[in-house]
Amino acid sequence: MPITKLRISKRGKEMPASPIRKLIPLSDEAKKRGIKVYHLNIGQPDIPTPVEFMNAVKNYPNKVLEYGNSKGDLRLIQGMVEYYHRKNILVKPENIQITTGGSEALIFSIICISDVGEEIIVFEPFYTNYNSLARVADINLVPVPTKAENGFHLPDKKIIEKKITSKTKGILLATPNNPTGTVFTREEMETIAELAKKYDLFVLSDEVYREFIYEGVHTSIMNIEGIEDRAILLDSISKRYSACGARIGCLVSKNKEVMDTALKLGQSRLCSPSIEQYGAIGALKLPEDYFLAMAEEYKRRRDTCYAELMKIPGVICQKPSGAFYIMVKLPIKDIEAFAKWMLTDFSLNGATTMVAPGPGFYATPGMGKDEARIAYVLNVEDLKKAMRILAKGVEEYNKIKG
Ligand SMILES: Cc1ncc(COP(=O)(O)O)c(C=O)c1O
Repeated sequence: MPITKLRISKRGKEMPASPIRKLIPLSDEAKKRGIKVYHLNIGQPDIPTPVEFMNAVKNYPNKVLEYGNSKGDLRLIQGMVEYYHRKNILVKPENIQITTGGSEALIFSIICISDVGEEIIVFEPFYTNYNSLARVADINLVPVPTKAENGFHLPDKKIIEKKITSKTKGILLATPNNPTGTVFTREEMETIAELAKKYDLFVLSDEVYREFIYEGVHTSIMNIEGIEDRAILLDSISKRYSACGARIGCLVSKNKEVMDTALKLGQSRLCSPSIEQYGAIGALKLPEDYFLAMAEEYKRRRDTCYAELMKIPGVICQKPSGAFYIMVKLPIKDIEAFAKWMLTDFSLNGATTMVAPGPGFYATPGMGKDEARIAYVLNVEDLKKAMRILAKGVEEYNKIKG
């Protein structure tokens, strides 16, 4: 037997470790040493999952936990249709495919529209797992940079156009964006739509943070006229109902071929988790006030986080309008080394702060080396403590290594 076959695939090797999770062994070590670690590295909200979700799960009526429909629980699909109608997104049950988290909606949509070696345009910095999902599908992400100086809004149309090639199949964006918190305007969404029409592309719009808007209004790709056959909306209950572990999301499109293909992909993994879909049906009954109160709480957190950042000399960042992240330029040369050092060598009164290093949010090598993504997912008191520890860490680190 040729021994050379006993090797990991190219795509397996190229798969990046999640920058959000790869420092976890170091934070586990710090915790073993008795250090409290404030996790600003991961978008895991501390808000309790609503009782409506939990009660539905507790009251799951079936005696057998059987396979569900590959398209999703029809009651959940109906609940989602009603939710979207409340958001003025007019879709029908046949436009919705329930997925195992927004992550699966993303990979399904990428596979639906592109073959190996084809390209999808993304705006940098972007949600880090776009990089890993691109490796799973073996396609190439073509990054278009956005800049802190203009709030990470889209660059001139011509700059985007320059990146479109014969291999480009779609444009992927997130609004509000992770990690920048930017909410794209209607004009920006229309620009994307124009490009999609001109160059015959799909638009993948990741809207998992739709309910987290602090300034401006959210424009869904489903509400941009003239691209009904090109628009694919990716969604999730993870953040919306603070139910990240439930693993329930959906892919929404009015393109029948996309939906038929997504269903075949759904059939290949049989079904999404039944009990959690049942929980989501319960959560969908929550009134609009639920989101308003949550957005208010996150706005307070954003303001706290931003105010604390502004106290650190040399920091560059924009106040985000949505989601719960800030992408910040710190006065640090090598953010990876700094983030590790915060976990291995630094603590203040027995506590330290963990951030996600910037490079993982880029596809362009060398970008983000002095940037960190901060997830403001802790209550205001803890957030203040965590940010002050971070500030002290920056100061100390620069004294030692600067
Ligand atoms: C922009 C964005 N899209 C998708 C996801 C994946 O969400 P899910 O937990 O539903 O898989 C995340 C998770 O952080 C995200 O930030």
